[in-house]
Amino acid sequence: MCGITGYIGYREAYPIIINGLKRLEYRGYDSAGVMLYDGKEIQLSKTKGKVSDLEEITNKEPERKKGNIGIGHTRWATHGVPNNVNSHPHISKSGNLVIVHNGIIENYDTLRKELISRGYTFKSDTDSEVLINLIEEVKTQENCKLGQAVQLALNNVIGAYSITVFDKTKPNELVVARLGSPIAIGVGENNKEFFIASDASPFIEYTKDAIYLEDEELAIIKIDKGIKVRKIKDDSMVDTHIQKLKLSLDQIEKGGYDHFMLKEIHEQPKAIIDTYRGRMLPNEGIIRMSGIDNHINKFLNAERIIIVACGTSWHAGLVGEYLIEDKARIPVEVEYASEFRYRNPIITSKDVVIAISQSGETADTLAAIKLAKSKGAFVFGICNVVGSSIARETHAGAYTHAGPEIGVASTKAFTTQITVLALISLKLASKKGEISKSELRTFMQEMQLIPKKIESLLKVDNKVKEIAAVYKEATNCLYLGRGFNFPVALEGALKLKEISYIHAEGYPAAEMKHGPIALIDENMPIFVIATRKGHYEKVVSNIQEIKSRSGKIIAIVTEGDTQVKEIADHVIEIPETVEALTPLLTTIPFQLLSYHIAVMLDKNVDQPRNLAKSVTVE
Ligand code: AGP
Ligand code: GLU
Repeated sequence: MCGITGYIGYREAYPIIINGLKRLEYRGYDSAGVMLYDGKEIQLSKTKGKVSDLEEITNKEPERKKGNIGIGHTRWATHGVPNNVNSHPHISKSGNLVIVHNGIIENYDTLRKELISRGYTFKSDTDSEVLINLIEEVKTQENCKLGQAVQLALNNVIGAYSITVFDKTKPNELVVARLGSPIAIGVGENNKEFFIASDASPFIEYTKDAIYLEDEELAIIKIDKGIKVRKIKDDSMVDTHIQKLKLSLDQIEKGGYDHFMLKEIHEQPKAIIDTYRGRMLPNEGIIRMSGIDNHINKFLNAERIIIVACGTSWHAGLVGEYLIEDKARIPVEVEYASEFRYRNPIITSKDVVIAISQSGETADTLAAIKLAKSKGAFVFGICNVVGSSIARETHAGAYTHAGPEIGVASTKAFTTQITVLALISLKLASKKGEISKSELRTFMQEMQLIPKKIESLLKVDNKVKEIAAVYKEATNCLYLGRGFNFPVALEGALKLKEISYIHAEGYPAAEMKHGPIALIDENMPIFVIATRKGHYEKVVSNIQEIKSRSGKIIAIVTEGDTQVKEIADHVIEIPETVEALTPLLTTIPFQLLSYHIAVMLDKNVDQPRNLAKSVTVE
């Protein structure tokens, strides 16, 4: 999920690869590594930490920098904690093949066991080392060239990847392939040199000619001969299309978007797929989550589940409460980690504590975990950053696999946390016999439709922009929702506060009349979630109450709604889904709205004032 660079040509490869990795640093990463080949030896240098830490290693031994061919990597760990051994590149058993890989190989465990039975051993915990040895095994068995071996191996792989592979026995070529993770090839003059990178930023000063591989394509790059691209599945040749790069460096880093936040909002369909990848088997009616499977009795015997988190993660926790109680019928309490840790809570060994944190470093959440552990509770973590302090401190857990989130305002972290919580609720429901196989299957199928629905929902952007223009001068806003969408109202208000500095409050819609209703006048925009499934009639009544006090109503409704359309000042339609999954959709327009208001007010969207991405102090 992070960065790949590579070079093959006539120049010294090292500076191109290292400077390229630095250009990719904006993506966030935990380890860095490079392989150089000087015509005789493969030189592997890799380390946990920053590219500058890698440079310290290579600076001590200049032979590590020699050669006109090489590959580099920044890792965002998914399988195995960030450490030197798990860092990329990875080398095959024979010592001839080297790989850098971004992404996740879902069936790595099965492949690994198969390879172990054939005499392979593994140094790292990564799925990537499994892949390079699978390629080696195929190459040996079929006695074929590298390109074909990579292709055959990838046909046995389930997951997502962008990879670059080097073979010491054929050192004039590199093989590159992609499925679900981007990779670009920069083409030098007369096929004398080629650059490989996750986006074009590492090579933009060398060439403006680039080929972007599409999913399921594999490229064989040979000096002097050029690039041949094939389809991985059916071996058909692909006509390569060289694009002329026009974007500036800054634009490339943000994937063509103006801000990381907007990029991350648009990444949500993929992030959600990466989160449920390999965990949902709708045909079999099974949810696979080893962190839960291995401790299932802790969950099944739990008298209650306590969720601890801060900020956006706490909002996801509230959705989790609704999900787990509704589906699995286990009592759930959701606590701010900062309150929980200091209020002398009653915790016993019969409690399961779920700690949620994007960064895995939030000081209050970490302290809450330590407290819960000291009282004998079983603690389960939901984190995005692999190997983070919270991931290490918990007894077991599940990663969200959202990829690095750079914008301070959480977006994809929220929806992927909800995705994991939905999986947990279904897993527990099925283990407790609270849900039938067919209901489970239907729910999983609905979940699989969510990424496409978000994609189509993102097209409301222009409409949201118009609404943002109308309300950008507001000084106070109210966000209302009920049931599963009450936490979305809280999250919508938090997003607006964080990046536009407009005061906003989230409330359960029915609670409005116990106080906030006094604030309503013609200057007050009120954002109401009024989806068809979810106390619709009740919310419509709440909307009427606002209307009669002259408040401005911006409603999120289900496609085809007519009733709310007649009353509200603006409506934004979302696709239909099961009620429990609506938060994954209703939150999207709120993210876009906050984003556009902040941009219109000329605020620093990605780094709002006074806020830190991870709050490591209390
Ligand atoms: C979200 O937009 C905020 N920046 C903030 O509330 C954040 O969710 C909170 O600090 C918790 O962070 P964590 O998920 O990394 O623990
Ligand atoms: N799954 C691989 C690992 O954990 C690659 C992670 C990445 O995309 O950086 O090493």
